[in-house]
Amino acid sequence: MHLLSFLASPLSCLFISAIVFPYPTSAQDRTTEQGEAQILDPTVECAPYQYPPVDDAQGNFPPSWTVATILSNDSDAQARYQSIEGLIPKIPPKGRKADSANGNFGGFKYDPNDPDCWWTYSMCTTPNVSGVPDDIAAVPEPNTLGYGFDDGPNCSHNAFYDYLLSNDQKATMFYIGSNVQQFPLEAQRALADGHQICVHTWSHHYMTALTNDEAFAELWYSMQIIKLVVGVTPTCWRPPYGDVDNRIRAIANALGLMTIMWQFDSEDWLGIESVTKVNNNYMDLITAAQNGTFSTSGTIMLTHELTNFTMSEAVSFYDQVASAFSYLVPVGVALNVTAPYVEDGYTLPSFAQYIGGMHVVSTTGSGSGGGSTSAPSVGGSSDGSGTSGSTTTGNSTNTSKSGAAKVSLKRVDSFASAAVLVTGILFML
Ligand SMILES: *[C@@H]1O[C@H](CO)[C@@H](O)[C@H](O)[C@H]1NC(C)=O
Ligand SMILES: *[C@@H]1O[C@H](CO)[C@@H](O)[C@H](O)[C@H]1NC(C)=O
Ligand SMILES: *[C@@H]1O[C@H](CO)[C@@H](O)[C@H](O)[C@H]1NC(C)=O
Ligand SMILES: *[C@@H]1O[C@H](CO)[C@@H](O)[C@H](O)[C@H]1NC(C)=O
Ligand SMILES: *[C@@H]1O[C@H](CO)[C@@H](O)[C@H](O)[C@H]1NC(C)=O
Ligand SMILES: *[C@@H]1O[C@H](CO)[C@@H](O)[C@H](O)[C@H]1NC(C)=O
Ligand SMILES: *[C@@H]1O[C@H](CO)[C@@H](O)[C@H](O)[C@H]1NC(C)=O
Ligand SMILES: *[C@@H]1O[C@H](CO)[C@@H](O)[C@H](O)[C@H]1NC(C)=O
Ligand SMILES: [Zn+2]
Repeated sequence: MHLLSFLASPLSCLFISAIVFPYPTSAQDRTTEQGEAQILDPTVECAPYQYPPVDDAQGNFPPSWTVATILSNDSDAQARYQSIEGLIPKIPPKGRKADSANGNFGGFKYDPNDPDCWWTYSMCTTPNVSGVPDDIAAVPEPNTLGYGFDDGPNCSHNAFYDYLLSNDQKATMFYIGSNVQQFPLEAQRALADGHQICVHTWSHHYMTALTNDEAFAELWYSMQIIKLVVGVTPTCWRPPYGDVDNRIRAIANALGLMTIMWQFDSEDWLGIESVTKVNNNYMDLITAAQNGTFSTSGTIMLTHELTNFTMSEAVSFYDQVASAFSYLVPVGVALNVTAPYVEDGYTLPSFAQYIGGMHVVSTTGSGSGGGSTSAPSVGGSSDGSGTSGSTTTGNSTNTSKSGAAKVSLKRVDSFASAAVLVTGILFML
């Protein structure tokens, strides 16, 4: 076709828009979970945005990334703290706080008998405190990996979450409260995609260094921000750096949080400089799975959604890990925790349901998206986040509510956005 007739054709507009705007920046919707989930450029996704429900509630939360304290005007938190105080063993905070909260326990004298079942000292996961259950460091199902990621929501996790969706793979996401506050739409995506959300503290410090009320506040405000943003209150947590002892376990337990640890450490947090080591750690897990190590019970490995590197490692090893194990499931699924949140109506599949192909069970919850105060976006999403009472299956290609069905919706949405963009250019031209 002649150049002139090409330029005059509708097709040319598509080409021109593709050249002028490699991604549809003008069409970005950064007000809803679905809109935000379509952004694939990490620079764009990580740019701050306003989210009114969080902005309006700023005063109800401690400052981001600093050790949380109970706010002086928060009578709910104060009452709850007072109600659990009597359950906390009389164990002093460990080390000198300014240092130990950042992991330097140098100079701290600790009884070598490990009276506090301090994981950082001995990797102890079996507290002998009445009423406090053992930590979950492994899963009982044979040849099963309890699959999960710490430190999210990372602002640039869309490519990774898309990858998980394309494999219809669900995981347990251990979210940092300060990240949820900063990137609420990314946090909503976990629920929308059918993942399980657990708490990973407010500011990611070493918990055994903190006072009772600080440790309480680290967990409490993480639970509150997840409730505000996502609409659910988790019932599980993972201590940053694994730093937990009987005192911290008792506080978490009193707040209804199950402590989830790990047996294998990918050490992916070391970063790309340590890629050989991280690869070897993944290979060790894979070899162990292949040689029968988990033939009577499964395990958990520590991995992160911290950076592009940690997520890329998860992607590059996914196929090998998935074929070395019989089952990769969220930790809660491996434990049959079918009611993973305080609120009614949000369910996880049981282990039997999950391995039978049901990767998302629908919800009857009405409080998605923070109930009355927030996130109308989530309530309108097309997945298991609280819009329907019907059961759904994990076979995504033909279910109206599963996470993967959402991908096709997204394609429709982004196509629609592109069409709007093309129209816009047509108009401008
Ligand atoms: C507590 O005080 C802050 C201001 O410091 C305010 O924004 C917030 O709404 C108050 N919270 C309650 C529960 O009164
Ligand atoms: C727990 O076990 C340790 C070590 O065996 C012991 O020193 C400690 O007193 C025990 N604590 C309780 C509450 O039984
Ligand atoms: C299985 O592989 C793991 C990881 O390489 C290794 O530590 C373990 O000794 C192996 N066990 C057997 C029975 O070969
Ligand atoms: C998220 O990942 C990006 C890399 O893709 C990194 O630059 C950023 O610091 C991470 N954000 C957080 C909050 O961890
Ligand atoms: C890592 O970054 C590259 C380059 O931006 C991107 O193509 C890729 O999707 C990212 N991977 C993950 C898992 O986020
Ligand atoms: C989960 O449920 C199955 C039965 O469907 C059972 O065999 C298994 O022991 C349960 N696991 C746990 C941890 O309760
Ligand atoms: C799920 O969808 C795939 C792809 O369309 C199809 O091949 C498979 O048979 C379906 N599985 C079930 C259980 O419906
Ligand atoms: C897809 O689901 C609809 C109802 O939700 C059903 O009528 C239809 O038969 C299903 N298609 C396939 C291929 O399973
Ligand atoms: Zn962490």
